[in-house]
Amino acid sequence: MPQSHFARLARVVAVAVLASLSAAAGAAPPAGDQIRGARVYRQFCQHCHGPNLVNPGTVSFDLRRLRAEDYPRFSESVMNGKGNMPPWKATLKEGDLDALWAYITTARGG
Ligand code: HEC
Repeated sequence: MPQSHFARLARVVAVAVLASLSAAAGAAPPAGDQIRGARVYRQFCQHCHGPNLVNPGTVSFDLRRLRAEDYPRFSESVMNGKGNMPPWKATLKEGDLDALWAYITTARGG
């Protein structure tokens, strides 16, 4: 039956896509957080920090420089603001900060 052949092909493709997504994501955090983080980033951060984290090379900090141990600094600067960056704690929703962190720490270098 051609139909079952297509169904099987669709399953194979779906499995391959999932496998490559989880390979790109590494171990933790869950992929959902990165996708949410990417969305929050595009909404609030991109116009200063650059599309896909690629810094325009002007005044804002290059977020790809953040390392795992920089989370406290990241959290403090983003929530309370730093220099010319406004504070975000009134704008971000519960979980947004961690989603941004997941996005930044997994997508950098890409
Ligand atoms: C209005 C432009 C603007 C927007 C929007 C913006 N930033 Fe920034 N950001 C800056 C500037 C400018 C700096 C450099 C601040 C300094 O060191 O004086 C900075 C610095 C930072 C730093 C480094 C702070 C440090 O400790 O040195 C982080 C982390 C950061 N931004 C994250 C974010 C995130 C996450 C968002 C979105 C929620 C965001 N920024 C949105 C302008 C912006």
